[in-house]
Amino acid sequence: MSQSKIHRYLKHGVLPQLTVFEAIARLGSFSRAAEELFLAQPTVSVQIKKLTETAGLPLFEQVGKRVHLTEPGRHLYAACRQIFHALSNLEDTFSDIRGLKSGRLQLAVITTGTYFAPRMLAAFVQQHPGVEVSLQIHNRQTLIERLANNEDDLYIFANPPQEPEVVTQMILPNPLVVFARDDHPLAKEKNIPFERFAQEPFLIREPGSGTRMVVQQLFDQHATKPWITMELSTNEAIKQAILAGLGVSILSRYTLGLDVEQTQLVTLNVEGFPLEHHWYFVHPSGKQLSLVAKTFMDFVRIEAKQLVYDHLAQNGS
Ligand code: PGA
Repeated sequence: MSQSKIHRYLKHGVLPQLTVFEAIARLGSFSRAAEELFLAQPTVSVQIKKLTETAGLPLFEQVGKRVHLTEPGRHLYAACRQIFHALSNLEDTFSDIRGLKSGRLQLAVITTGTYFAPRMLAAFVQQHPGVEVSLQIHNRQTLIERLANNEDDLYIFANPPQEPEVVTQMILPNPLVVFARDDHPLAKEKNIPFERFAQEPFLIREPGSGTRMVVQQLFDQHATKPWITMELSTNEAIKQAILAGLGVSILSRYTLGLDVEQTQLVTLNVEGFPLEHHWYFVHPSGKQLSLVAKTFMDFVRIEAKQLVYDHLAQNGS
């Protein structure tokens, strides 16, 4: 195709000018276009002035309050839509090549991920329907082993390993609370001293659990030991044991799930709680993250956080 015929359009800035032109034509107003594009109105006017000079023909006429396309403006509008359509198709093709339409994401998360990861992934897949997702849920120790073997694309830890060859990025708050059954004698107490709470029968997670590690560190800080009555290997089993009246425990608040449900579990008002913890994205420092993994990280940072913040707000955290 000879480009001599179209050389007047091959100038720097024509595409942004067309963006402004398209918005004015669609909205029938310079000020509404400026608003939609987050531009100052004089900027919009300058862009249209330049585009009109390039075309050598008037593009808009004002009738009353509304701006109308002239005949050359209507031709330009049709061409503009074709150009944007072609660019949009091109972007789809590029996405295919980059892997977003057929890519795969293998995400591995710690056990509390059970309560939020499926929903985040569902929202992500809705935006990127071609992406195939696999979710691994394990305790901290198993996740560390998988990370060392580079078995997954990306990890979410609550207590990431402190190693130089690992990259961590804080994503969301993960408060830890003391759970008890609603008829527990301390259920209505305020500012329960840690030493008083420590006298209660305690249900603890299995060795290798990050939650267990935090519990042990906390009791060490208070120079005391929990009165462990039972060890259980899942958060759900601990919740059931609390409901069965077997004791209290420290778990992530998210073990209640993201929806507010009727439950007999209550949080005890123990001094120092909730413990301010967070979730982190983790990957080996040398790892070349796939486009899908990077896109998912951006997605969680920008959009999926709201899901969790709404939950925290609902629960008064
Ligand atoms: P976990 O997960 O207790 O299942 O290991 C939480 C954490 O890593 O702290």
